[in-house]
Amino acid sequence: MENNRKVTLTYNDGKDNLEMPVLKGTLGPDVVDIRSFSKTGMFTFDPGFLATASCESQITFIDGDLGQLYYRGYPIEQLAEKSDYLEVCYLLLNGELPTAEERKVFERGIMRHNMLHDQLMSLFKGFRRDAHPMAVMVGVVGALSAFYHDSLDINNPEHRKISAHRLIAKLPNIAAQAYRYNKGLPFSYPKNGLTYAENFLHMMFSTPCEEYKVNKTLALALDRIFTLHADHEQNASTSTVRLAGSSGANPFACIAAGIACLWGPSHGGANEAVLKMLDEIGSVENVPAFMEGVKNKTHKLMGFGHRVYKNMDPRAAIMKETCDEVLSELGLHNDPKFKLAMALEKIALEDPYFIERKLYPNVDFYSGIVLSAIGIPVSMFTPIFALARTVGWISHWAEMIADPTMKIGRPRQLYTGAQRRDYIPQEQR
Ligand code: ACO
Repeated sequence: MENNRKVTLTYNDGKDNLEMPVLKGTLGPDVVDIRSFSKTGMFTFDPGFLATASCESQITFIDGDLGQLYYRGYPIEQLAEKSDYLEVCYLLLNGELPTAEERKVFERGIMRHNMLHDQLMSLFKGFRRDAHPMAVMVGVVGALSAFYHDSLDINNPEHRKISAHRLIAKLPNIAAQAYRYNKGLPFSYPKNGLTYAENFLHMMFSTPCEEYKVNKTLALALDRIFTLHADHEQNASTSTVRLAGSSGANPFACIAAGIACLWGPSHGGANEAVLKMLDEIGSVENVPAFMEGVKNKTHKLMGFGHRVYKNMDPRAAIMKETCDEVLSELGLHNDPKFKLAMALEKIALEDPYFIERKLYPNVDFYSGIVLSAIGIPVSMFTPIFALARTVGWISHWAEMIADPTMKIGRPRQLYTGAQRRDYIPQEQR
């Protein structure tokens, strides 16, 4: 939305001024529209996108200073308390909360797609047993594009919808089978009638030998983790999905790219890194020495800090509550690892180093603890993040594809390499 404000760029070398319009969103800071800047023959320089909006979007809003996160306008606190993951999926994909009938149809649509093509199972078997499940996820999700040629026309809204449903439905199954293959367990199948989170626990932990009873408290905690991770506007992996999709690549390939990006420890790998850090620290007595290392910048305190939230990650506050519920349910409050985590949190929250830098626990600090308490192995933390974020990725992808002004993403650069020079034959070097 354009308003009357303009930004004028003046040069100190006598060149004409350049006036640029200021765009106003429904929430958040104004944005200078620099598209006309390219005509000046110069580029803007903003590595890490610290001051650059890469797109227009109507899906998620974050105010990092106020610690606010809204999906389609609804505060995350309300959704975490009153909604559930599948309803949030519908909301992110369609823009509005579903009626009872819409919800039923949506849920049925997801359920209908939750099995994996039998031939896909041989793909799992091509991996080493000890492969990281994220490596398996990148491969298997990318391979989905080889199974659905019939519905890969990205310009067809119906095809986009089916692909979105397939991805949301199949990701928990793929993640669970990656785990089972690693453990040497037989592949499992989804069980309709269970909720999305219950089904995931069932696919992860059931065996053919006995009935698996899902713990409702743990399933609810997992559902909340899914809800809190469902979207986070233009983060690194979502931007990766958008950039991949801007070339016209199919949605399965784009989501595989998003999964690859999410794998990094500064992004989705953080909750895995939290647990590894706790193992490294070992016990509460070693915390002061570890903190010295953090201040000397030898290592980071994983699960702390956020690029956008410089006050408090609102998801962290919700997850902290869930963390307490799960530790109580499982009687784990006195477990040495979880005691260590709580000691670390307390020390960091009171330490001037963290206060001055506005470093607070992020959602992954607590989600790592919850997942570990549920009995989910550390290597599965990022796959779980990936399956929850799939709806966000595919919603952004669909929003971008449906936009008639979409262009292929192509950033420019500030080149600081060698000047033009002539090739030197090897014997003269
Ligand atoms: N531990 C110790 N110091 C930190 C941490 C941390 N976790 N995070 C930032 N800092 C320090 C930096 O060293 C820097 O200090 P300085 O001013 O003395 O140089 C200052 O805080 C500012 O840090 P930046 O690097 O500018 O913060 P940025 O916004 O670029 O980084 C990031 C954000 C990548 C998340 C960072 O805080 C980090 O690596 N945290 C740990 C990993 C993590 O938990 N990631 C999860 C993010 S949430 C998510 O993906 C769902």
